[in-house]
Amino acid sequence: MLAIIGGTGAGQLADLQNTRREVIRTPYGEPSGALTFGVIAGHDVVFIARHGYGHTLPPHQINYRANIWALAQQKPDAVIAIASVGGIRADLQPGALVIPDQIIDYSHGRHQTYFESGHRPVTHIDFTEPYDRALRQQLLAAAQAENIALIDGGTYACTQGPRLETTAEIRRIERDGGDMVGMTGMPEAALARELGLHYATLAVVSNWAAGKGDSNHNVTFDLAGDAFQGALRQITRILSQLA
Ligand code: HPA
Repeated sequence: MLAIIGGTGAGQLADLQNTRREVIRTPYGEPSGALTFGVIAGHDVVFIARHGYGHTLPPHQINYRANIWALAQQKPDAVIAIASVGGIRADLQPGALVIPDQIIDYSHGRHQTYFESGHRPVTHIDFTEPYDRALRQQLLAAAQAENIALIDGGTYACTQGPRLETTAEIRRIERDGGDMVGMTGMPEAALARELGLHYATLAVVSNWAAGKGDSNHNVTFDLAGDAFQGALRQITRILSQLA
């Protein structure tokens, strides 16, 4: 079974059929919503909307531990996290799809580990490569089979939000080596690793990050526009090919 975490603008999956919902309880509290089980291209999929089905949870209030725990209970073969990001690197323009390969975490105050409260011996997970290498390759191959341009690699910078960044913050992130910026990549990826899940992110660029692109003005999201909607359709095709 393939697990999919839907992000901003991807709160539902168009191609998910025969769906049923199930509320899962976890020792860490409530996930963002019920899990949706269904079928894509004949394969079993479990889906959760990261921000809740009505998109009501801001990034810093998402119960990442409960979400990842609930998915892990389903014993998925892989977890694909869909995430919208702001583009910093010149080729990451709105509408582009990218599979990041690295993370820098600027978030704070989030429950970021299962190794707390003395129930389990502390384990320092290896996080040299934060995303599953084999799964990244599978995603790239699936995109290639569908003739979809999918950019291989980039550093995902996770900011705290919910506000967007200042131009100076984006310049700093760029100097640090960040290529794209989002608010939900962490601690999600680390928690998935703690539970031994094969996890990778499929990022869709929804906007130029602050001060990037050709306008030096405000950040604008156009989630209803052609670039973003076209990218979402491509994501569905990639997932169908993968499942
Ligand atoms: N900044 C932070 N998170 C984001 C952005 C951004 O510009 N776009 C989408 N998620």
